[in-house]
Amino acid sequence: KIDVMKRKNYKIWSIAALLFFYIGSYGQSNDAAVIMALPDPLISNSGEKISDSNSWMKNRRGEILTLFEDNLYGQVPKDFDSIRFRLKSEDKMAMSGKAKLKEIGIDVYRNKQLVTINVTLFIPAKAKMPCPVFLLINHRGRNNTDPTRAEKSGFWPAEEVIARGYAIATFHVSDVAADNKDSYTQGVLRLYPEQLKMPNGMKAIGAWAWGAMRVMDYFETDKEINASKVAVLGHSRGGKAALWTGAQDERFALTISSCSGEGGAALSRHLVGETIKDLNTNFPHWFCDNYKQFNSNVNALPMDHHELIALIAPRAVYVASATEDQWADPVGEFLSMKYAEPVFNLFGLKPLPVKEQPAKNTQVKSSNMGYHIREGAHNLTLYDWERYMDFAANLSF
Ligand code: GCU
Repeated sequence: KIDVMKRKNYKIWSIAALLFFYIGSYGQSNDAAVIMALPDPLISNSGEKISDSNSWMKNRRGEILTLFEDNLYGQVPKDFDSIRFRLKSEDKMAMSGKAKLKEIGIDVYRNKQLVTINVTLFIPAKAKMPCPVFLLINHRGRNNTDPTRAEKSGFWPAEEVIARGYAIATFHVSDVAADNKDSYTQGVLRLYPEQLKMPNGMKAIGAWAWGAMRVMDYFETDKEINASKVAVLGHSRGGKAALWTGAQDERFALTISSCSGEGGAALSRHLVGETIKDLNTNFPHWFCDNYKQFNSNVNALPMDHHELIALIAPRAVYVASATEDQWADPVGEFLSMKYAEPVFNLFGLKPLPVKEQPAKNTQVKSSNMGYHIREGAHNLTLYDWERYMDFAANLSF
């Protein structure tokens, strides 16, 4: 409820801010105004120009990852004592025989503590094996990803994804960290209690990314899944986590963000909609404590979100916005893609074929970058999924 109220109030303010921005500094010099202020992904911390993909991968990418770790998402610990994959149940006749349903439990132990991630996975009955898969980080109700298919939702349109020959998987964020400021510590953070004491320690968004990586560990063991063709996606707060997953873990071939906004795809220095202070005030359990330093000083942020997109290069990335979602700053989301292009270019990859944000409901894509702005509200819908699948098909997914 509070979110909705805030969203309404802020909508008015963000429309005003948007107009101001367009009339004020946007116009002709809009790009220049943003570029001037934005950190340059192709200048290293010590001031050297990065001009080839090798030095990007060897030197610069790591620097930027550390900036995001230290100032925004916190660390994502890589070590644990053991991991075990359990096939809890299997139904070869799911969706009237069109798919196989597997329910998997992933048990991860560290320091005698256990966390279990429950994965729901549908694999098309008729498909090229091993099969590419879309993995949704679900932060909404579990009914959106109902394995019995009694309930169906555009948020996770399993039937439609199966019909196009893709597998579809999901896990719920609360298995790794509840989306709650008081109880988020009771999941995977029990395995890594030292993180809670660090100003750049993992919190909920980092924990969700950690969870997605463990699902990838599972995919690598499932012979029916093509682990080199895994797309990770999330909506809004889940989209922030999906971007952080794809930015770090090079095993993900495609990273998709739906309406992820501030703390996700949107440029922080594009001052529309939600602010860093809003995030830290309303969701103190999402980002590391260091992020609070930028509450009133966005220009001190040593990185910006075009560099989060750039961390995914040369792998594929897709960003989607919605016209009524000014809180998530659709223009800022689009500009992140544009300002990430020089990094994709180091790999010989083409920029998006447009300079300005495209019209609503019009997909734009180059080989490894895709974008659309859907008409309508802050949501993840079948329309969005269809565009993601169109894009994946182009990647020979
Ligand atoms: C709130 C929050 C956003 C977030 C969104 C969501 O509106 O301010 O940052 O993306 O919830 O997860 O739906």
